[in-house]
Amino acid sequence: MESLGMSLAQLKHKRVLVTGHTGFKGSWLSIWLATLGAKVHGFALTPEADRPSIFHEAQVESLLASHTVADIQNLEAIQACLEKTQPEIVFHLAAQPLVRKSYREPISTWSVNVMGTINLLEAIRHVGGVRVCQVITSDKCYENSGQVCSFRETDPMGGYDPYSSSKGATEIAVSAWRRSYFATERLTEHGCSLSSVRAGNVIGGGDWAEDRIIPDCIRSLSSNEPIQIRNPNAIRPWQHVLEPLSGYLALAGRQWDQPESFADSFNFGPFPSGNLTVGEVASQVVKHWGKGTWVDQSSQSSVRSPVHEAAFLKLDITKASSLLGWTPKLSAHEAIKETVHWYRERFTEATNFDALKLCRSQIESYECRSKLL
Ligand SMILES: NC(=O)c1ccc[n+]([C@@H]2O[C@H](COP(=O)([O-])OP(=O)(O)OC[C@H]3O[C@@H](n4cnc5c(N)ncnc54)[C@H](O)[C@@H]3O)[C@@H](O)[C@H]2O)c1
Repeated sequence: MESLGMSLAQLKHKRVLVTGHTGFKGSWLSIWLATLGAKVHGFALTPEADRPSIFHEAQVESLLASHTVADIQNLEAIQACLEKTQPEIVFHLAAQPLVRKSYREPISTWSVNVMGTINLLEAIRHVGGVRVCQVITSDKCYENSGQVCSFRETDPMGGYDPYSSSKGATEIAVSAWRRSYFATERLTEHGCSLSSVRAGNVIGGGDWAEDRIIPDCIRSLSSNEPIQIRNPNAIRPWQHVLEPLSGYLALAGRQWDQPESFADSFNFGPFPSGNLTVGEVASQVVKHWGKGTWVDQSSQSSVRSPVHEAAFLKLDITKASSLLGWTPKLSAHEAIKETVHWYRERFTEATNFDALKLCRSQIESYECRSKLL
Protein backbone atom coordinates (compact mmCIF):
# COMPACT_ATOMS: atom_id res chain seq x y z
CA MET A 1 0.00 0.00 0.00
CA GLU A 2 1.63 3.18 -1.19
CA SER A 3 0.61 5.58 1.57
CA LEU A 4 2.00 3.32 4.31
CA GLY A 5 5.25 2.89 2.38
CA MET A 6 5.64 6.67 2.11
CA SER A 7 4.89 7.22 5.79
CA LEU A 8 7.39 4.58 6.85
CA ALA A 9 10.16 6.16 4.78
CA GLN A 10 9.34 9.58 6.25
CA LEU A 11 10.08 8.39 9.78
CA LYS A 12 13.78 7.78 9.16
CA HIS A 13 15.95 10.02 11.39
CA LYS A 14 12.92 11.64 13.02
CA ARG A 15 13.02 12.21 16.78
CA VAL A 16 10.00 10.32 18.08
CA LEU A 17 8.75 10.09 21.65
CA VAL A 18 6.61 7.07 22.55
CA THR A 19 4.86 7.28 25.92
CA GLY A 20 3.94 3.85 27.22
CA HIS A 21 6.89 2.33 25.32
CA THR A 22 7.37 -0.37 27.98
CA GLY A 23 3.89 -1.80 27.36
CA PHE A 24 2.55 -4.22 24.78
CA LYS A 25 1.66 -1.83 21.96
CA GLY A 26 4.38 0.66 22.88
CA SER A 27 7.09 -2.02 22.63
CA TRP A 28 5.90 -3.13 19.18
CA LEU A 29 5.70 0.50 18.04
CA SER A 30 9.18 1.27 19.37
CA ILE A 31 10.64 -1.79 17.62
CA TRP A 32 8.96 -0.79 14.35
CA LEU A 33 10.07 2.86 14.60
CA ALA A 34 13.66 1.90 15.47
CA THR A 35 13.73 -0.55 12.55
CA LEU A 36 12.67 2.32 10.27
CA GLY A 37 15.59 4.42 11.46
CA ALA A 38 13.71 6.79 13.75
CA LYS A 39 15.44 8.07 16.87
CA VAL A 40 13.09 6.68 19.49
CA HIS A 41 12.72 8.07 23.00
CA GLY A 42 10.49 6.44 25.60
CA PHE A 43 8.57 7.69 28.64
CA ALA A 44 6.76 5.17 30.85
CA LEU A 45 6.81 3.18 34.06
CA THR A 46 8.87 0.01 34.36
CA PRO A 47 6.95 -3.13 33.36
CA GLU A 48 5.17 -4.90 36.20
CA ALA A 49 7.52 -7.36 37.86
CA ASP A 50 4.95 -10.12 38.42
CA ARG A 51 4.66 -11.19 34.77
CA PRO A 52 6.74 -11.50 31.58
CA SER A 53 7.30 -8.35 29.56
CA ILE A 54 7.81 -7.92 25.83
CA PHE A 55 9.84 -4.79 26.63
CA HIS A 56 12.39 -6.90 28.51
CA GLU A 57 12.17 -10.03 26.36
CA ALA A 58 12.69 -8.11 23.10
CA GLN A 59 15.34 -5.89 24.73
CA VAL A 60 13.54 -2.78 23.52
CA GLU A 61 15.64 -0.53 25.75
CA SER A 62 18.70 -1.34 23.63
CA LEU A 63 16.95 0.18 20.59
CA LEU A 64 16.16 3.49 22.25
CA ALA A 65 17.89 6.85 22.10
CA SER A 66 16.63 7.45 25.65
CA HIS A 67 14.45 5.68 28.17
CA THR A 68 12.74 7.80 30.83
CA VAL A 69 11.04 6.01 33.69
CA ALA A 70 8.56 8.49 35.18
CA ASP A 71 4.88 9.04 35.88
CA ILE A 72 2.74 10.82 33.28
CA GLN A 73 0.73 12.27 36.18
CA ASN A 74 3.81 14.36 36.95
CA LEU A 75 3.69 17.42 34.67
CA GLU A 76 7.25 18.45 35.46
CA ALA A 77 8.57 15.00 34.57
CA ILE A 78 6.95 14.89 31.14
CA GLN A 79 7.95 18.49 30.48
CA ALA A 80 11.58 17.73 31.41
CA CYS A 81 11.50 14.70 29.10
CA LEU A 82 10.28 16.83 26.17
CA GLU A 83 12.92 19.47 26.87
CA LYS A 84 15.63 16.82 26.95
CA THR A 85 14.57 14.76 23.93
CA GLN A 86 13.12 17.52 21.68
CA PRO A 87 10.74 15.16 19.82
CA GLU A 88 9.23 16.09 16.47
CA ILE A 89 6.58 13.37 16.70
CA VAL A 90 4.83 12.05 19.83
CA PHE A 91 2.75 8.87 20.12
CA HIS A 92 0.91 8.89 23.46
CA LEU A 93 0.12 5.34 24.61
CA ALA A 94 0.83 5.60 28.35
CA ALA A 95 -2.39 4.66 30.11
CA GLN A 96 -4.15 2.34 32.49
CA PRO A 97 -5.75 0.22 29.72
CA LEU A 98 -7.86 -2.39 31.54
CA VAL A 99 -11.63 -2.22 32.11
CA ARG A 100 -11.79 -4.54 35.11
CA LYS A 101 -8.84 -2.86 36.83
CA SER A 102 -10.57 0.48 36.27
CA TYR A 103 -13.49 -0.71 38.45
CA ARG A 104 -11.01 -1.39 41.25
CA GLU A 105 -8.97 1.77 40.67
CA PRO A 106 -11.25 4.41 39.12
CA ILE A 107 -9.46 7.46 40.46
CA SER A 108 -6.01 6.48 39.25
CA THR A 109 -7.47 5.30 35.92
CA TRP A 110 -8.97 8.74 35.30
CA SER A 111 -5.90 10.48 36.66
CA VAL A 112 -3.44 8.57 34.43
CA ASN A 113 -5.62 8.50 31.33
CA VAL A 114 -7.22 11.94 31.37
CA MET A 115 -4.89 14.13 33.44
CA GLY A 116 -1.85 12.27 32.08
CA THR A 117 -2.93 13.23 28.56
CA ILE A 118 -3.59 16.82 29.59
CA ASN A 119 -0.14 16.98 31.21
CA LEU A 120 1.43 15.80 27.95
CA LEU A 121 -0.53 18.34 25.89
CA GLU A 122 0.40 21.14 28.27
CA ALA A 123 4.06 20.11 28.16
CA ILE A 124 3.95 20.07 24.34
CA ARG A 125 2.35 23.51 24.36
CA HIS A 126 4.99 24.96 26.64
CA VAL A 127 8.08 23.25 25.30
CA GLY A 128 7.16 23.54 21.59
CA GLY A 129 8.84 21.87 18.65
CA VAL A 130 6.44 18.92 18.36
CA ARG A 131 4.98 18.85 14.86
CA VAL A 132 2.80 15.74 15.19
CA CYS A 133 1.08 14.31 18.26
CA GLN A 134 -1.20 11.29 18.31
CA VAL A 135 -3.22 10.36 21.37
CA ILE A 136 -4.14 6.69 21.43
CA THR A 137 -7.57 6.18 22.95
CA SER A 138 -9.92 3.25 22.27
CA ASP A 139 -13.03 2.03 20.49
CA LYS A 140 -14.55 2.10 23.98
CA CYS A 141 -14.55 5.93 23.96
CA TYR A 142 -17.94 5.91 22.22
CA GLU A 143 -21.27 6.00 24.02
CA ASN A 144 -22.35 2.38 23.55
CA SER A 145 -26.06 1.77 23.97
CA GLY A 146 -25.60 -1.92 23.18
CA GLN A 147 -27.32 -1.71 19.82
CA VAL A 148 -25.61 -3.21 16.82
CA CYS A 149 -24.01 -0.43 14.85
CA SER A 150 -20.63 0.72 13.64
CA PHE A 151 -19.23 3.71 15.43
CA ARG A 152 -18.13 6.60 13.27
CA GLU A 153 -15.67 9.26 14.40
CA THR A 154 -18.50 11.80 14.77
CA ASP A 155 -20.54 9.64 17.16
CA PRO A 156 -20.91 10.89 20.74
CA MET A 157 -18.24 10.14 23.30
CA GLY A 158 -19.25 8.26 26.43
CA GLY A 159 -18.27 5.06 28.17
CA TYR A 160 -20.13 2.96 30.72
CA ASP A 161 -17.25 2.02 33.01
CA PRO A 162 -14.34 4.02 34.48
CA TYR A 163 -11.87 2.93 31.78
CA SER A 164 -14.16 3.54 28.79
CA SER A 165 -15.35 6.86 30.13
CA SER A 166 -11.75 7.92 30.83
CA LYS A 167 -11.04 7.34 27.14
CA GLY A 168 -14.18 9.28 26.16
CA ALA A 169 -13.03 12.10 28.45
CA THR A 170 -9.53 11.94 26.96
CA GLU A 171 -11.06 12.41 23.53
CA ILE A 172 -13.00 15.43 24.76
CA ALA A 173 -9.81 16.88 26.26
CA VAL A 174 -7.91 16.32 23.00
CA SER A 175 -10.67 18.00 21.04
CA ALA A 176 -10.73 20.96 23.46
CA TRP A 177 -6.94 21.38 23.43
CA ARG A 178 -6.90 21.09 19.66
CA ARG A 179 -9.48 23.84 19.29
CA SER A 180 -8.17 26.03 22.10
CA TYR A 181 -4.44 25.78 21.55
CA PHE A 182 -3.61 23.69 18.50
CA ALA A 183 -6.41 24.96 16.26
CA THR A 184 -5.71 24.80 12.56
CA GLU A 185 -5.62 28.58 12.14
CA ARG A 186 -2.90 28.72 14.79
CA LEU A 187 -0.76 26.04 13.18
CA THR A 188 2.43 27.90 12.48
CA GLU A 189 5.76 26.29 11.80
CA HIS A 190 5.93 25.72 15.58
CA GLY A 191 2.36 24.40 15.77
CA CYS A 192 1.40 20.82 16.51
CA SER A 193 -0.98 18.65 14.50
CA LEU A 194 -2.97 16.83 17.18
CA SER A 195 -4.92 13.69 16.34
CA SER A 196 -6.64 10.92 18.29
CA VAL A 197 -6.83 7.30 17.21
CA ARG A 198 -9.33 4.64 18.20
CA ALA A 199 -8.73 0.94 17.82
CA GLY A 200 -10.46 -2.20 18.98
CA ASN A 201 -9.28 -5.29 20.80
CA VAL A 202 -5.67 -5.67 19.81
CA ILE A 203 -3.90 -9.01 19.87
CA GLY A 204 -0.32 -9.98 19.19
CA GLY A 205 2.68 -11.69 20.71
CA GLY A 206 4.05 -10.40 23.98
CA ASP A 207 0.85 -9.20 25.63
CA TRP A 208 0.74 -10.49 29.23
CA ALA A 209 -1.97 -8.22 30.63
CA GLU A 210 -4.53 -9.52 33.10
CA ASP A 211 -8.10 -10.19 31.92
CA ARG A 212 -7.33 -10.20 28.23
CA ILE A 213 -8.40 -13.17 26.17
CA ILE A 214 -5.12 -14.09 24.46
CA PRO A 215 -2.84 -13.78 27.52
CA ASP A 216 -5.47 -15.69 29.54
CA CYS A 217 -5.54 -18.45 26.90
CA ILE A 218 -1.74 -18.69 26.77
CA ARG A 219 -1.40 -18.78 30.56
CA SER A 220 -3.86 -21.69 30.69
CA LEU A 221 -2.51 -23.60 27.70
CA SER A 222 1.12 -23.30 28.80
CA SER A 223 0.09 -24.73 32.19
CA ASN A 224 -1.93 -27.54 30.55
CA GLU A 225 -5.15 -26.20 32.05
CA PRO A 226 -8.49 -25.61 30.29
CA ILE A 227 -9.12 -21.99 29.32
CA GLN A 228 -11.93 -20.47 31.39
CA ILE A 229 -14.13 -18.24 29.24
CA ARG A 230 -16.55 -15.99 31.12
CA ASN A 231 -18.23 -14.33 28.18
CA PRO A 232 -18.00 -16.66 25.14
CA ASN A 233 -20.72 -14.94 23.11
CA ALA A 234 -19.34 -11.41 23.36
CA ILE A 235 -18.36 -10.11 19.92
CA ARG A 236 -15.21 -8.01 19.62
CA PRO A 237 -13.35 -6.49 16.68
CA TRP A 238 -10.10 -8.47 16.90
CA GLN A 239 -7.06 -7.18 15.12
CA HIS A 240 -3.35 -7.84 15.10
CA VAL A 241 -1.27 -5.17 16.86
CA LEU A 242 0.48 -4.26 13.60
CA GLU A 243 -2.84 -3.19 12.06
CA PRO A 244 -3.59 -0.18 14.25
CA LEU A 245 0.13 0.63 14.48
CA SER A 246 0.31 0.78 10.68
CA GLY A 247 -2.66 3.16 10.81
CA TYR A 248 -0.90 5.36 13.37
CA LEU A 249 2.22 5.47 11.19
CA ALA A 250 0.24 6.23 8.03
CA LEU A 251 -1.59 9.02 9.83
CA ALA A 252 1.62 10.44 11.32
CA GLY A 253 3.04 10.78 7.80
CA ARG A 254 -0.05 12.61 6.62
CA GLN A 255 -0.05 14.85 9.71
CA TRP A 256 3.58 15.68 8.99
CA ASP A 257 2.81 16.71 5.40
CA GLN A 258 -0.60 18.30 5.92
CA PRO A 259 -0.80 19.15 9.62
CA GLU A 260 -4.06 21.02 9.41
CA SER A 261 -6.02 18.50 7.33
CA PHE A 262 -5.13 15.51 9.47
CA ALA A 263 -5.42 17.03 12.95
CA ASP A 264 -8.48 14.90 13.54
CA SER A 265 -9.76 11.61 14.99
CA PHE A 266 -9.56 8.27 13.17
CA ASN A 267 -10.89 4.75 13.73
CA PHE A 268 -8.56 1.86 12.96
CA GLY A 269 -10.64 -1.28 13.27
CA PRO A 270 -10.82 -4.55 11.34
CA PHE A 271 -13.11 -5.37 8.44
CA PRO A 272 -16.48 -6.69 9.69
CA SER A 273 -15.14 -10.23 9.21
CA GLY A 274 -12.72 -9.43 12.05
CA ASN A 275 -15.63 -9.51 14.47
CA LEU A 276 -15.51 -12.88 16.22
CA THR A 277 -16.97 -14.10 19.49
CA VAL A 278 -14.63 -14.71 22.40
CA GLY A 279 -15.49 -18.42 22.12
CA GLU A 280 -14.44 -18.48 18.45
CA VAL A 281 -11.15 -16.81 19.36
CA ALA A 282 -10.49 -19.38 22.10
CA SER A 283 -11.18 -22.22 19.63
CA GLN A 284 -8.73 -20.73 17.13
CA VAL A 285 -6.07 -20.28 19.81
CA VAL A 286 -6.41 -23.93 20.86
CA LYS A 287 -6.22 -25.04 17.20
CA HIS A 288 -2.97 -23.12 16.53
CA TRP A 289 -1.45 -24.07 19.90
CA GLY A 290 -2.01 -27.69 18.91
CA LYS A 291 -3.73 -28.99 22.04
CA GLY A 292 -5.96 -27.90 24.92
CA THR A 293 -9.59 -27.01 25.54
CA TRP A 294 -11.75 -24.13 26.66
CA VAL A 295 -14.78 -24.20 28.93
CA ASP A 296 -17.76 -21.89 29.09
CA GLN A 297 -17.88 -20.39 32.58
CA SER A 298 -20.64 -17.86 31.91
CA SER A 299 -23.04 -19.60 34.28
CA GLN A 300 -20.51 -20.03 37.11
CA SER A 301 -21.02 -17.36 39.75
CA SER A 302 -17.41 -17.68 40.94
CA VAL A 303 -16.04 -16.51 37.61
CA ARG A 304 -19.01 -14.65 36.20
CA SER A 305 -18.03 -11.12 35.29
CA PRO A 306 -19.06 -8.89 38.23
CA VAL A 307 -18.84 -5.86 36.01
CA HIS A 308 -20.68 -4.59 32.98
CA GLU A 309 -19.00 -5.51 29.69
CA ALA A 310 -20.28 -4.11 26.41
CA ALA A 311 -21.87 -6.84 24.32
CA PHE A 312 -20.92 -5.47 20.93
CA LEU A 313 -18.38 -3.03 19.58
CA LYS A 314 -17.72 -2.29 15.94
CA LEU A 315 -15.78 0.50 14.29
CA ASP A 316 -16.56 2.13 10.95
CA ILE A 317 -13.22 2.54 9.14
CA THR A 318 -14.49 4.40 6.08
CA LYS A 319 -12.67 7.60 7.05
CA ALA A 320 -9.26 5.95 7.49
CA SER A 321 -9.64 4.01 4.28
CA SER A 322 -10.81 6.96 2.17
CA LEU A 323 -8.51 9.68 3.58
CA LEU A 324 -5.41 7.65 4.42
CA GLY A 325 -5.76 4.70 2.05
CA TRP A 326 -5.45 2.51 5.16
CA THR A 327 -7.17 -0.85 5.30
CA PRO A 328 -6.61 -3.92 7.47
CA LYS A 329 -4.32 -6.52 5.98
CA LEU A 330 -4.90 -9.55 8.20
CA SER A 331 -8.13 -11.42 8.78
CA ALA A 332 -9.01 -12.18 12.40
CA HIS A 333 -7.98 -15.80 11.77
CA GLU A 334 -4.59 -14.73 10.40
CA ALA A 335 -4.12 -12.34 13.32
CA ILE A 336 -4.78 -15.15 15.80
CA LYS A 337 -2.43 -17.48 13.91
CA GLU A 338 0.43 -14.91 13.96
CA THR A 339 -0.18 -14.23 17.63
CA VAL A 340 -0.24 -17.86 18.74
CA HIS A 341 2.86 -18.52 16.63
CA TRP A 342 4.71 -15.86 18.69
CA TYR A 343 3.78 -17.49 22.00
CA ARG A 344 4.45 -21.01 20.74
CA GLU A 345 7.96 -19.96 19.72
CA ARG A 346 8.46 -18.41 23.13
CA PHE A 347 7.48 -21.60 24.96
CA THR A 348 9.08 -24.12 22.62
CA GLU A 349 12.35 -22.27 21.98
CA ALA A 350 12.72 -21.35 25.70
CA THR A 351 16.28 -20.01 26.19
CA ASN A 352 16.90 -19.79 22.43
CA PHE A 353 13.86 -17.59 21.95
CA ASP A 354 14.76 -14.30 20.27
CA ALA A 355 11.74 -12.07 20.81
CA LEU A 356 13.19 -9.09 18.96
CA LYS A 357 14.01 -11.20 15.89
CA LEU A 358 10.51 -12.66 15.83
CA CYS A 359 8.87 -9.22 16.21
CA ARG A 360 11.05 -7.87 13.42
CA SER A 361 10.23 -10.78 11.15
CA GLN A 362 6.49 -10.35 11.75
CA ILE A 363 6.84 -6.61 11.06
CA GLU A 364 8.76 -7.32 7.86
CA SER A 365 6.19 -9.77 6.57
CA TYR A 366 3.42 -7.32 7.46
CA GLU A 367 5.19 -4.57 5.51
CA CYS A 368 5.59 -6.91 2.52
CA ARG A 369 1.95 -7.82 2.66
CA SER A 370 0.99 -4.11 2.87
CA LYS A 371 2.97 -3.30 -0.26
CA LEU A 372 1.41 -6.18 -2.14
CA LEU A 373 -2.18 -5.26 -1.46
N1 LIG B 1 -4.32 -3.53 23.93
C1 LIG B 1 -5.52 -3.22 23.48
O1 LIG B 1 -6.30 -4.11 23.14
C2 LIG B 1 -5.94 -1.78 23.36
C3 LIG B 1 -7.17 -1.50 22.71
C4 LIG B 1 -7.57 -0.18 22.58
C5 LIG B 1 -6.76 0.83 23.10
N2 LIG B 1 -5.59 0.53 23.74
C6 LIG B 1 -4.78 1.65 24.24
O2 LIG B 1 -3.45 1.54 23.75
C7 LIG B 1 -2.54 2.04 24.73
C8 LIG B 1 -1.49 0.98 25.05
O3 LIG B 1 -2.14 -0.17 25.55
P1 LIG B 1 -1.35 -1.51 25.90
O4 LIG B 1 -2.27 -2.62 25.64
O5 LIG B 1 -0.04 -1.50 25.24
O6 LIG B 1 -1.18 -1.34 27.48
P2 LIG B 1 0.02 -1.79 28.45
O7 LIG B 1 -0.55 -1.90 29.82
O8 LIG B 1 0.74 -2.96 27.91
O9 LIG B 1 1.00 -0.53 28.42
C9 LIG B 1 0.69 0.65 29.11
C10 LIG B 1 1.91 1.55 29.10
O10 LIG B 1 1.56 2.75 29.80
C11 LIG B 1 2.54 2.99 30.80
N3 LIG B 1 1.93 3.67 31.94
C12 LIG B 1 0.87 3.26 32.68
N4 LIG B 1 0.66 4.14 33.69
C13 LIG B 1 1.60 5.11 33.54
C14 LIG B 1 1.90 6.28 34.26
N5 LIG B 1 1.20 6.65 35.35
N6 LIG B 1 2.94 7.05 33.85
C15 LIG B 1 3.68 6.70 32.76
N7 LIG B 1 3.44 5.60 32.05
C16 LIG B 1 2.40 4.81 32.43
C17 LIG B 1 3.06 1.62 31.20
O11 LIG B 1 4.32 1.74 31.84
C18 LIG B 1 3.12 0.95 29.84
O12 LIG B 1 4.31 1.34 29.19
C19 LIG B 1 -3.39 2.46 25.91
O13 LIG B 1 -3.67 3.83 25.81
C20 LIG B 1 -4.65 1.66 25.75
O14 LIG B 1 -5.75 2.24 26.39
C21 LIG B 1 -5.17 -0.75 23.87
